[in-house]
Amino acid sequence: MTSAPVRNPATTRLATTRRYLMCAPTHFAVEYSINPWMDPTRPVSTAGAIAEWEALRQTYLRLGHTVETIDPQPGLPDMVFSANSGTVIDGVVLGARFRAPQRAAEADFFRTWFLDHGYRDIVMPEKINEAEGDLTWTGDLLLAGTGFRTDPGAHAEAQEVLGVPVVSLQLVDPRYYHLDVALFVLTEATPTSRAHIAYYPEAFSPGTQRLLRRLYPDAILATAEDAACLGLNAISDGRNVILPKEATTLTTQLHAHGYTPHPVNITELRKSGGGPKCCTMELRDRT
Ligand code: ARG
Repeated sequence: MTSAPVRNPATTRLATTRRYLMCAPTHFAVEYSINPWMDPTRPVSTAGAIAEWEALRQTYLRLGHTVETIDPQPGLPDMVFSANSGTVIDGVVLGARFRAPQRAAEADFFRTWFLDHGYRDIVMPEKINEAEGDLTWTGDLLLAGTGFRTDPGAHAEAQEVLGVPVVSLQLVDPRYYHLDVALFVLTEATPTSRAHIAYYPEAFSPGTQRLLRRLYPDAILATAEDAACLGLNAISDGRNVILPKEATTLTTQLHAHGYTPHPVNITELRKSGGGPKCCTMELRDRT
């Protein structure tokens, strides 16, 4: 006989309300290839991407979060991945500078959005910086990926602009070209504890793997299969976790840790190398 699971009150998960910025995939397509997921010869359904995006937006609204939107622009098929266009901490905005020329124009549309929406502390980076694609705020440290997109020099620039401590992480697998496809935050740090995170160790160099084990000994480690469906491109509000539906082992792990998983379909968006997190920039306004 198996005994019923005992809920440890210490692991009761508390959601906090978030404010997100999203961009509808009206002009979504895979017209060029800047990561191994993108194959311009493979058919993509824009209507399917729109349905996936709308379901994601509705999930956030149902969970009580606020979703702001920015107008999509023709000729910018990757603009749906709003996470790449800004890092906002305590109301300070560090904009983006894309590595690929095909995406370069996105950065200024977002800069204008921030200006039009009352943000006054906006800095556009000098170094290549793909924002929340590679910069993950944990509540006390800014984890910063490099290896494929964001320049390591952007890490020091982020520390200076945002005034938070930055920890550099080395990505080594081209399928996991951004930090946000290899790691995400489940629960932010508190004054007495580090964040609770999930990640796929093999996406990182040996030294970074040791560093992550040292900083986050209780992290959830994802399987190769769950990483390969972009399962780590997930979003958590501290309790609810929105993740690609194929990440079944991770879903089980999340349940066991007291989280509530919300699986979503990303069949079309994944053809561009993106998932729920890529479509979601968090607006961490001044409190
Ligand atoms: N096709 C896009 C690119 O390669 C996907 C970006 C996904 N965004 C993210 N935050 N990982 O730039």
